[in-house]
Amino acid sequence: MKIHFLLDDLLVEAPAGTPLQRIADAAGADITFGCRTGSCGTCRVRVAAGLANCSEPGPEERDFLMGLDAPADQRLACQVTVQGDVDIEYLGL
Ligand code: FES
Repeated sequence: MKIHFLLDDLLVEAPAGTPLQRIADAAGADITFGCRTGSCGTCRVRVAAGLANCSEPGPEERDFLMGLDAPADQRLACQVTVQGDVDIEYLGL
């Protein structure tokens, strides 16, 4: 599968089922990770394409994003596992 980090214009390949944070770290994508447990929000991204290829948010991620009134295409990169092609735009907090 292909992961496109839009702000870096970085296109990388990874096996389906890989955590997005692992892909971002390996690629050197410009996404800031803080807690890596879904509680700080520094890794917030917009899934510009391929939202259906992302794992469903767990309760902690869902609660955090609801607290920000974030639209459904926004996710916490440290909580997402990717199953297919996605375009990722880094937002931060
Ligand atoms: S790194 Fe803190 S929520 Fe993702």
